Amino acid sequence: MSALRASVALVLATSLTAGCTERQLIDDGGVSTPTTPAGTTRLERTVQRSGDPEAGWDYLRYGDYIGSGVPADIFTALIGGEPPNRLGREGDSASIPYVFNRFETPTGVDVVGGLNCFGCHSSYLNGEFIVGLGDAFSDFTSNQTGQFEQARELVEFRYGEDSAEAEAYAIFLRGASAAATRTTTPFRGVNSAFLLEEAVARQRNADLSWSDEPVFDLAPRLVASDVPAWWNVKKKAALYYSGIGRGDFARLLQQISVVGVYHAEQADGFDANFPDVLAWIETLEPPVFPDVDTLDPEVVERGHQIFEATCSGCHGTYNEVHEYPNLLVDADVVGTDPVYAEAIAASGLSDWYNTSWFGDYGAAAGDSSYVQPAVAYVAPPLDGVWATAPYLHNGSVPNLMTLLDSSRRPTFWRRDFQDSTYDTNSVGWPHQVVEAGLDVDTYDTTIPGYGNQGHTFGDHLDDDERRALVDYLKTL
Ligand code: HEC
Ligand code: HEC
Repeated sequence: MSALRASVALVLATSLTAGCTERQLIDDGGVSTPTTPAGTTRLERTVQRSGDPEAGWDYLRYGDYIGSGVPADIFTALIGGEPPNRLGREGDSASIPYVFNRFETPTGVDVVGGLNCFGCHSSYLNGEFIVGLGDAFSDFTSNQTGQFEQARELVEFRYGEDSAEAEAYAIFLRGASAAATRTTTPFRGVNSAFLLEEAVARQRNADLSWSDEPVFDLAPRLVASDVPAWWNVKKKAALYYSGIGRGDFARLLQQISVVGVYHAEQADGFDANFPDVLAWIETLEPPVFPDVDTLDPEVVERGHQIFEATCSGCHGTYNEVHEYPNLLVDADVVGTDPVYAEAIAASGLSDWYNTSWFGDYGAAAGDSSYVQPAVAYVAPPLDGVWATAPYLHNGSVPNLMTLLDSSRRPTFWRRDFQDSTYDTNSVGWPHQVVEAGLDVDTYDTTIPGYGNQGHTFGDHLDDDERRALVDYLKTL
């Protein structure tokens, strides 16, 4: 599947645990208080547009938010085979890979678009497919621009150069080609979403019309990141690792559409569905740790005490009532690699976003969403954190045991990307520690932006304490 996805991704660009216990979340407004730790800012939760979760789940699986794509018959001929129907889709959508949607363009062309949300926001763990878990197996290491042209020839040959089909593909192709210039990563497992978006957004005017001349410069060094789990969105006051996504979340969620959207009127149509998408995302619950019942309650309780004494100030509490402080922590306070946050702050993408259809220019500007860069990282909710390896915003740390002991973090570590067997002991991805950046399966923490330094808050613990703390984290 991943080889297929790797090649097709660029050509084209549940654990919905029903009946889970409702947890209460304290929303304490969000201003700096005397108890806010130094170097941290408390983010304020804002009222979100409400929607229908069921409709959101359907829109995510069948919706047109990618905008344009490859005419469906040509796509089907190129792909062949019968991939597994991971999203439980019906009709024509049942037989295409789960990472793509089949939909109609504004000109009535039946297309398959580029990567849908699940192309990056679903993954495998112990052989199980988990919707909403960030993809830990992605492969953005190669650039397949060559195949774009091949598909263009097919479309034009079959439908004619002036057809609506050729137009649908051309709109998609210009976005996907712009994106391809920036999406390549040095190794697997990290995701280029913001690089991709920056590369395409600069080819669009504020009203989303295409501009052959770029409207802003590329940031000197944008880097790829890990992909956060969706089940924590409901606790957050700001989206994204560096907390840049503010205001109306539904609008922020649509950014992938810059690749293939026809025009602002089509985007207004997407926008009407995204409050539903947000509502569905907010129903997600984290997966439960395997054999969680066999953990020793006394050890877990010891871990709980250590957590509340050492970690809760930033990450909140996970008792009957959850208190999550929504803290944005300065990069020099958490000490993790600042390059990701710095690069986003330096990119023209933020100003573009804020003045484009997504921000002030939007049809529903009353719901205004905006981007506010900061050289800082959000201390994330730790619900289901056992399942979200690798750790930190750049995915540079393979497991929880080494996250809590910075002296043991590997500089170069190599994973088997064919195997989703999880290490439930150290809690993360099984790996080999190697001497150098051997190949695309090896994470190289010496590359700027991919450093594994900082977050040394577990370093002072001894091994027994660390183990107890990790056992507690398994229960969240
Ligand atoms: C090409 C891969 C890719 C695609 C496609 C994609 N995302 Fe993401 N998404 C990411 C990455 C990477 C991040 C993390 C960026 C960051 O936080 O700085 C992210 C972050 C998010 C977040 C923020 C979560 C948090 O905890 O802050 C949400 C919500 C989200 N995406 C929703 C969506 C939706 C909805 C779609 C489809 C409309 C989508 N994404 C499509 C890669 C992708
Ligand atoms: C001063 C605030 C602060 C304290 C104290 C703190 N953390 Fe964090 N933690 C953060 C921030 C900020 C991040 C995100 C850093 C990044 O991604 O670069 C983070 C990230 C993490 C992550 C990675 C989450 C993921 O999915 O990648 C884990 C796990 C974690 N912390 C656990 C702990 C534990 C356990 C403790 C107590 C020993 C602790 N933290 C103490 C601020 C803090």
